[in-house]
Order: sequence, then structure tokens, then C-alpha cells
Amino acid sequence: MTTYSLRKAAADKIKTDALVVGVCTSAKGLQVAPGGEDVASAYGRKLTPLLSTLGFSGKAGEVVKVPTGGVVKSPVLVLVGLGDRDALTTEKVRRATGTAARAITNAASVALALPAHDAEHVRAVADGYLLGSYAYAEYKTAEPPARPGEVVLLTDRAKTKDAQTALETAQVVATATCLARDWVNTPPGDFTPEKFADAVSATKKSSKAKVTVAVTDEKALEAEGCGGIIGVGRGSANPPRLVRLSYKPRGAKAHLALVGKGITYDSGGLSLKPGPSMVTMKCDMAGAAAVVAATFAIAELGLPIAVTTYAPMAENMVSGSSTRPGDVLTMFGGKTVEVLNTDAEGRLVLADALVKATRDKPDLIVDVATLTGACVVALGDRVAGVLGNDPDLVAQIRGAGEKAGEALWPLPITDEMTEKVRTNSKVADLAQHNTERWGGTLYAAAFLQEFVDGARWAHLDVAGPAFNEKGPHGYTPSGGTGIAVSTLVELAADLSAR
Ligand code: BES
Ligand code: MN
Ligand code: ZN
Repeated sequence: MTTYSLRKAAADKIKTDALVVGVCTSAKGLQVAPGGEDVASAYGRKLTPLLSTLGFSGKAGEVVKVPTGGVVKSPVLVLVGLGDRDALTTEKVRRATGTAARAITNAASVALALPAHDAEHVRAVADGYLLGSYAYAEYKTAEPPARPGEVVLLTDRAKTKDAQTALETAQVVATATCLARDWVNTPPGDFTPEKFADAVSATKKSSKAKVTVAVTDEKALEAEGCGGIIGVGRGSANPPRLVRLSYKPRGAKAHLALVGKGITYDSGGLSLKPGPSMVTMKCDMAGAAAVVAATFAIAELGLPIAVTTYAPMAENMVSGSSTRPGDVLTMFGGKTVEVLNTDAEGRLVLADALVKATRDKPDLIVDVATLTGACVVALGDRVAGVLGNDPDLVAQIRGAGEKAGEALWPLPITDEMTEKVRTNSKVADLAQHNTERWGGTLYAAAFLQEFVDGARWAHLDVAGPAFNEKGPHGYTPSGGTGIAVSTLVELAADLSAR
């Protein structure tokens, strides 16, 4: 266990194993970033030549470790690039802190002398370290490197309430993000719908959050008429589940409904994916992981927002009992859907859950889903798409994403797509899949929109940023990223402030 604390102390005098300072570029050359002034004066004129000998340019993503030889009390100085001094943002601080955290591999104690002059920056530094030091070692037989026992954030505001709150909030939200990462990273054979539902129940047991959890099994789902969840899950030996969470604080200012796609593995079903596309498909429950983890975080923070969360969980597999392209499913609430491609399964499990969410009469519904490869084509693997039926809500979510450091970009739901959803099936009410591949993200969202009954709703397509197939960067690890947890908590905070 690592303890985090705020302290007002001189960075050059503090005795820790590793001391972190930021370095900015500026017209006058490299400069130590705010927070590192004491270290800069301890080194005096020696610092610039040292940095140039190291070939350190101050760019974001750069990090070097140097022995201090007694210039400051700490034996190791960690210098991390922050880029242009005039373009410094909280997000750049958050990312640089993450980069520094990843570089620190064997320190029992760490002090961070980074820009932390106000609560917002304290939050960014805490977020960066907490998220950047994440590692998934559950299946590694080798002993993982020891984590520091103590991380101290140096700030002049250490004694203030707002800085303390910023640190506590960072700990709650980062813990939730890392929980979502763990769930995504767990091998899919060990994280079936039943096991995922058990993990949610276990989290509730160990959490202080006042959240209730209800799990619906396959028999009850069948009896209730959840044709989407049953239809997708029927090809698997591991039956589906629907998990519902509820947080109802006194004096709630609004009622937020969350829905997350929980496909614990997506083989594509009978419309089988090519082998290489299947490799990362344990990430297909990242939406469910995010909405569940965010619900616990919102409750733990005690935000005055009621939250009802639905996580439909199923495994999309191939067998003699799989749903076939051509089959018609009756969704919860009665609408019929012709399945044309069993690999477009996410929208089917979400449809049942969205209808359920709508029946609770929330003020707004937000769903999160690794829904379409088309969204990755459109926006790349670091930007999520956001679509919906209310431009103000889309703007509000983008604002929350901005604060959270999660990039979201709007895409439209056109009348043309809605028309296709409603007319492309010759036998059922709705066509699940568009045989024309262009605009696949728009079509999928237009399909989901048929199940929200006019309620204010937004959809986050996180197929790109949910899973990092490449190396780590900033505070983002390889594998599960925990995308959307932070944005959803910011959204709830924003709703409570309105
Ligand atoms: N889970 C996938 C989407 C996905 C792709 C997530 C890449 C993460 C990374 C989804 O179920 C899927 O297979 N979508 C199909 C839809 C198509 C059949 C209309 C796709 O995008 O190819
Ligand atoms: Mn699929
Ligand atoms: Zn999928």
C-alpha cells in the first residue's frame, strides 16, 4: 500500500529516495517548472549544462534520472519534460507525472516537486502518479517491483481544505479507473459474465459506497423478455447476466442513468472475426467496467446525484446454439430486430438495458460501449466518439471529458441512418446492421436511439481508447485504460453543481 500526502516543504531539503521536478522549454532555453524552484537554486548554474549533457530537451514524454551527489538531500532526481512553458495545462502536468511514475522503479519514498500551486494542479499531480504507477501483474509469476510506501506531493497549499479534497478525490477516482483497468485486463476465460457479476458484488461488499447491486441470471432474463442479452449470450457455455446498481443519496439534484456494454469476449459469433481482430476482444466489456466503477466512485464521493446503472454482460461465441444472421430477436419492451451480423452484438445487449434504464425515468442516460471499429477508423485510438439526441448534453459531456483529460469528439446521428434502421429489415421492426459499411458508428448510434423513448441520451463509443495495444504513454498503461470513468465522475460533479 502506498500512502499519499501533501506537504509544504523545501524540495531540496526533503529526504526521499526519488525527487521529481518538471522541466519546461521556453524562449530562454530550459527552465525548471513551478514547484521545482528550490531544486533549481540548489543546482544553480550547473543545471543547464547537466541537462544538455544528458540530451534532455524538455519535451513531453521525456524523463531522465540523475544521481544528485548531495546537491539536494534526495539521492536521485527525476527530471520530466513538460514542454512549452507558455502552453502548460493541467493535463500536461497529469501526463508528465504519469511518465515520471513509470520511470520510478525502485524507490521506497517519492517526493513530487511539480506545479501544484492550486487544488486543480494538486489533483492533476495526484491523478498522474496514481494512474501512471498502475501495473497489471496478476498472472506474472515473477515478483513485481516494489511500489513506494510513501508519495509526498509538495505544495504550498498542503494545509488547505481544497487541496486535501483534491487529493482525496484523485484517490477515489483513480482507484475506480484502475479497477476498470484490472477488469478489462483479466483474461476472458477467467472473466465470464457470471464472474464479472461476482466481481461487482464483491466490490460492493468491500466498498464504503452506499450502492445496491442486483444481478439477474439467464433464466430471469429469458422470463423478462431480454431478447438482446439472451440472443447474444446463447452461443456461449457461460450464460449472460444483467447487473443493476443503484445509488440514491438524500437531496439528489438529478437522476443519472448509466449503461455499459459488457461483452466479456467478442469472437464475432457466427459472423466470426478474423483471428487477429479477436486478440484484444477481452476489452469488449470496458464500457460496463467503466459505468460500474464510476458508480462506485460517485457514491464514495457522496455526490448528490442519484445513479442507476445497467451492465448487460454476455459472451459472444460460436456454437450450435448461437444466434444466426437472419434470426429475429424480440427486445425487452417488445421491439423486434432482425440480426444480420452477429458481430454487431453490442447494440443488441445495450437495447434491452437502455429500455430498462428508460423505464426508471432518469433525467439523462449515458451509455459507454466499445461499439464500432468504424469509430477507431474515424477518430483513432485516443479519442472517443460521442453521439446523442441532445446537443447540450453532448457539449456537457465533452466539457466533463476535457476536465478529466479524456478526449471526446462529436459525431452525428443523421435522419438518413435512422431511416435505414427502421426500413432495412423486410421481416422485423428494425435492422440491426447496415450492409453498407460507411458510417458504421452513426448507424449503431441510430439503432440505440430507437430504445431510449425520447429520453435525453448520449452514447460514448470508446472502441479506440478503451484498450492500448501499444506501449504506455503519460499516465496511460498498455492494455485496459479505464477510459470514461473519470469523465462520468466529472459529469456527475457537474450535474450536482447545476
Ligand atoms: N467489439 C466490436 C468493436 C470493436 C472494434 C471494439 C475494435 C474495439 C476495437 C464490435 O462488437 C464489432 O465487432 N463491431 C463491428 C460492427 C460491424 C459488424 C457492423 C465492427 O466494428 O466491425
Ligand atoms: Mn462484435
Ligand atoms: Zn463487440
